[in-house]
Amino acid sequence: SKPLRLGIAGLGTVGVGVLRILRQQAALLEARTGCAMTVSAVSARTRNKDRGLSLASFDWEDDPVKLATRDDVDVFVELMGGADGPAKAATEAALAAGKHVVTANKAMLAMHGQALAEQAEAAGVALRYEAAVAGGIPVIKTLMEGLAGNGITRIMGVMNGSCNYILTRMEDSGKTYQEIFAEADGLGYLEADPQLDVGGIDAAHKLAILSSIAFGTRIDFDGIQLEGIERVAIEDIRAAADMGYKIKLLGVTQKTGRGLEQRMMPCLVPQTSPLGQLDGGTNMVVIEGDAVGQIVLRGAGAGEGPTASAVMADVCDIARGLCGPVFGQPADTLEQTTPSSSQTP
Ligand code: NAP
Ligand code: HSE
Repeated sequence: SKPLRLGIAGLGTVGVGVLRILRQQAALLEARTGCAMTVSAVSARTRNKDRGLSLASFDWEDDPVKLATRDDVDVFVELMGGADGPAKAATEAALAAGKHVVTANKAMLAMHGQALAEQAEAAGVALRYEAAVAGGIPVIKTLMEGLAGNGITRIMGVMNGSCNYILTRMEDSGKTYQEIFAEADGLGYLEADPQLDVGGIDAAHKLAILSSIAFGTRIDFDGIQLEGIERVAIEDIRAAADMGYKIKLLGVTQKTGRGLEQRMMPCLVPQTSPLGQLDGGTNMVVIEGDAVGQIVLRGAGAGEGPTASAVMADVCDIARGLCGPVFGQPADTLEQTTPSSSQTP
């Protein structure tokens, strides 16, 4: 069969990881999909930057929109980030040009996922986003494929590794939020805008995407009851520990008698529970289905290898000819309700 030709915009942590997998696993990828993969062109902000690998064999495009619409690109791989700006413009242009799109961009999907999904479905092309939620953990595929026969009753989880790192370090060291925030920032663990992490916004983007898949609702970021970790004091962590609990930034989405309830906020979880034992930068997603019961997924929610692994899973699906509805269910009219109080699940 003809090779699958990729155009990759964004050559940072994730983009470089994708190029590495494409180079190192070319034979495996072809064996698994029946399709060779080539990179036609790449794009980033700065052309002459050492990225730790040679780009000499790829065309360079300064403009991601041009890259996304090139005749020799079958799949546009968007790894720039940002809800709007070039990521959205290039994604829309790619879909309009009939290209498949793979993205890791949870901010863009949380804000514009519905419109982009409608555009992709109308064009009959794939819009895939496994890397957007919980990095290397295949949570989207688990929901869309492995649990396809289930009505999902609840999803909860720790979906931001940076916040989990900060809370874990506070517990271990007895240091204040401000001290550990500075430490995490110094280690490069936080987003360029740290508020996305510590304000719970990044995790809420991910929760909004999962809600839509699980419950067939329109993505509703604004409907999430949201509180970050900035007000978690070391005294709170000590008091929780005295009672046998840990504090985690926990996302929960579930159907209630009042509609869909989505919240992302610091919660008490028992120290002995799987969530209570989740330390450091790891993610965990707990899914409850009416047929399967409860399953727990745990793994790296960020980083070059894990995130590129998820991007490549999407590219492989497209190579196998898989397309299908973007969020798995038609949007329904389920009403959004804000819960009246926060509780430990
Ligand atoms: P990053 O390291 O900051 O890289 C971003 C890349 O996009 C850079 O190569 C940058 O170019 C390029 N870029 C930015 N603006 C551009 C523009 N206007 N035109 C062309 N290129 C532009 O980001 P990342 O960590 O790889 O993340 C990429 C995406 O994956 C984001 O949506 C992020 O939320 C998502 N994600 C990341 C992780 C993770 O662990 N890093 C995990 C899950 C999801 P220069 O290099 O020239 O500056
Ligand atoms: N800032 C995010 C996190 C990156 O810490 O989980 C992965 O989405």
